[in-house]
Amino acid sequence: MAIQESGVVVKHDHLPVAMADGSLLAHVFQNLIGNAIKFRGSEAPLIRVNAAVRGKEWVFSKADNGIGIAAEDAESVFVIFRRLHARAEYPGNGIGLSICKKIIEQHGGRIWVESKSGHGSTFNFTLPVKVITKGGERTER
Ligand SMILES: Nc1ncnc2c1ncn2[C@@H]1O[C@H](COP(=O)(O)OP(=O)(O)OP(=O)(O)O)[C@@H](O)[C@H]1O
Ligand SMILES: [Mg+2]
Repeated sequence: MAIQESGVVVKHDHLPVAMADGSLLAHVFQNLIGNAIKFRGSEAPLIRVNAAVRGKEWVFSKADNGIGIAAEDAESVFVIFRRLHARAEYPGNGIGLSICKKIIEQHGGRIWVESKSGHGSTFNFTLPVKVITKGGERTER
């Protein structure tokens, strides 16, 4: 609904099937995409979701063209209750990304952000290849 109401365009590559907790992973995508909608900039909002294998990991990335995050805040945004803006400016409690971090770490992965203030952000997270299946069959690489 948030995607439809905001007119945000979400593009994604073919994504793999994960042997993971579906509701927890849905929560990760909902928060990352929800943040991209909330912290959008003046350009028409565009979100790209990609996934690629690197060694023994899948690396997922969600890139937006929103307001971006200053390099010095890149680690603190994953700390619970940490927000970079007043609630009057953008609503929220500062909980979403800390939960994403817990969920990804619980699945054996890592999460981080690459961003430049005013130039959009790319959130990346990994999942071990062993939790990914293709066409329902477990693949070990
Ligand atoms: N895509 C983004 N672009 C710019 N800033 C972001 C983005 N995602 C997160 N942030 C910054 O990181 C902070 C923490 O994000 P987080 O999702 O944890 O909290 P929130 O969205 O403010 O509140 P909640 O998720 O609890 O509704 C945000 O308040 C915002 O300042
Ligand atoms: Mg959030």
